[in-house]
Amino acid sequence: MNRRAVVLGSAGQLGVELVRELRARDYAAMGWDRDEVDITDIAAVENAIAGFDAEVVFNAAAYNQVDVAEEEPRAAFEVNALAVRNIALACRQIDARLVHFSTDYVFDGLARHPYAEDDPTHPLGAYAVSKLAGELYAQAYLDRVLIVRTSGLFGAGGLTTARGNFVELMLRLAGSGQPIRVVEDHVASPTFAPLLAARTVDLVDRGGSGLFHIGGGAPISWFQFARTIFEVAGSKPMLLATNEREYRTRAKRPKYSALSNAKMERVGLAPMPPVREAVEGYFAERSRAFSGIPA
Ligand SMILES: NC(=O)c1ccc[n+]([C@@H]2O[C@H](COP(=O)([O-])OP(=O)(O)OC[C@H]3O[C@@H](n4cnc5c(N)ncnc54)[C@H](OP(=O)(O)O)[C@@H]3O)[C@@H](O)[C@H]2O)c1
Repeated sequence: MNRRAVVLGSAGQLGVELVRELRARDYAAMGWDRDEVDITDIAAVENAIAGFDAEVVFNAAAYNQVDVAEEEPRAAFEVNALAVRNIALACRQIDARLVHFSTDYVFDGLARHPYAEDDPTHPLGAYAVSKLAGELYAQAYLDRVLIVRTSGLFGAGGLTTARGNFVELMLRLAGSGQPIRVVEDHVASPTFAPLLAARTVDLVDRGGSGLFHIGGGAPISWFQFARTIFEVAGSKPMLLATNEREYRTRAKRPKYSALSNAKMERVGLAPMPPVREAVEGYFAERSRAFSGIPA
């Protein structure tokens, strides 16, 4: 019999890829986004998860507006922390497995090596605190939970969400004809959503639990990432390097938040490809989406 899986936040960048990946692997996968199951509504979450008799629940829903969260920390906490408690309790009731996603922003960025799962956390703002609290809630109520931290996610789902992603932001700015300034002193692990979905389902299929980092390719600055995007896109806007002193944001972000995939690789998962290859994959998916060809 096909394993029964639920994806919450199924219209987001990661959610769409998880549903696609699970169905490709013959899971009976049901995806719900906010208008069908709002994860802040505990009764809705319990009814949906129990009603579908889910064996595995993937929580890809999140409040991801890092800067806006400084103005409305409660809204971020509702979705990223308290709602994870709702999901964990619903999973516990029917003994379903929870797979939850978190962020490189749980770290303060003072390290100079890609962060490992056992490095100490020190979130720097409301979004980051809410995501770390979500991890703690998941671990508090469940003996066996899989938590995957990722970084700078980009996937074709971002073509339809209001929030989009960094690649689309760069392309939009290039279209404006104005110079584009991107920080070169912040380094992360931009991650292609279909690869994250595939590695996560690999982990689930192997019975993996605990905390795992899955980031894309090698550590790269946002400036270099932007340059790679424009190289792959074949466009030449005026791209200028800036830094956090010049480019201020409401939320403080870790300067260095690259993630180490060593643990993931130790358990036998395939390494993540170089960022450039992932960006090429993104553009291939983007063209398919625009031409209406199903992936
Ligand atoms: N994006 C990144 O750069 C990044 C970096 C590190 C970690 N992560 C983590 O990776 C995971 C996936 O992120 P993503 O980029 O795929 O996010 P995304 O594209 O912003 O998608 C999140 C989805 O969750 C939905 N959602 C929000 N509130 C909800 C609620 N109360 N009930 C149900 N659904 C709700 C959103 O719907 P609406 O559109 O209606 O809000 C959206 O469809 C998240 O845990 C995120 O924190 C992301």
